[in-house]
Amino acid sequence: MTVRILSGIQPSGKLHLGNYFGAMKHHIELQGVPGAEPFYFIADFHALTTVQDAARLREYVRDAAVDYLALGLDPGRSVLFRQSDVPEVQELAWLLATVTGMGLLERAHSYKDKLAKGIKPSVGLFYYPVLMAADILIYKAGWVPVGEDQIQHIEMTQDMAGYFNQTYKTNVFVRPEGKLSATPRVPGTDGEKMSKSYGNTIDLQSDEKELKKVIMSIKTDSTPVEAPKNPDKETVFALYSLFATPQEREALAARYRAGGMGYGEAKKLLVEKAASHFADYRRRRQEIVANPGYVDDVLRTGAERARAVARQTLDEAMRACGLR
Ligand code: TRP
Repeated sequence: MTVRILSGIQPSGKLHLGNYFGAMKHHIELQGVPGAEPFYFIADFHALTTVQDAARLREYVRDAAVDYLALGLDPGRSVLFRQSDVPEVQELAWLLATVTGMGLLERAHSYKDKLAKGIKPSVGLFYYPVLMAADILIYKAGWVPVGEDQIQHIEMTQDMAGYFNQTYKTNVFVRPEGKLSATPRVPGTDGEKMSKSYGNTIDLQSDEKELKKVIMSIKTDSTPVEAPKNPDKETVFALYSLFATPQEREALAARYRAGGMGYGEAKKLLVEKAASHFADYRRRRQEIVANPGYVDDVLRTGAERARAVARQTLDEAMRACGLR
């Protein structure tokens, strides 16, 4: 049995541990699922809701492609492409928009959060989940591996697929399932969810010196060195756990509970883990950056393959509603 897997990442600058453990690591692992047909794309249309500078957007899109490849995306097994190379997705988004109530979009957490922060929303920001639904439905994806914050968008996609199928008495669209990674929640240096917009990230490209600097700045409580510490809900421990084997994790938890170890020491262990975990990525990244033609080829081939699927689905949807 084959299962089409699809996910996208928004190109919005340097990758951090939240992007990696919440989504990209999972994307790479899913390449190994028997029968998997992974499609991964760089959501550049979506990025326009926040990045409105042509040179920066181009740079971020390229960075995202390089990052995927450096983390182990294998173009022999996965289709990697740029969202805007498949313009059919915009046509499908319109078809979905016409069967979707305003109320559904008004309930979107991501939209409401931005309003609450005082951001003046563009029409595009409001419409964001419709385009995302089109991304998913146009490839008839069965599984959509995402971070926790995107689950509601997947539920909205399920609703939109249902509205369209019911309205036009068709079964063009497949109901997608959201899939969370094993580590969807990654705390930032202040203990809040790691996010670029909170300025609390630990970036994958950091070398050991930079890692040391940010990791040493992680907020901890004031329990003295001698006193026993509770590893649960402690940021340094939570981050260490993402990298560690279960045995290593237990060993560190025991040292927390025993007392006599300060947070500084736990931070040092975390620096070592993070530096060695991403050494390969940093090396491969440099090799790929030195070979821009390779990245272009991968994206071109990916776009061709994705577009063939998208055209087919769009044609079915157009027919279903009487436009062809
Ligand atoms: N909204 C997603 C994010 O910010 C990116 C995205 C766009 C996406 N389209 C998608 C993810 C389709 C999965 C499927 O992370």
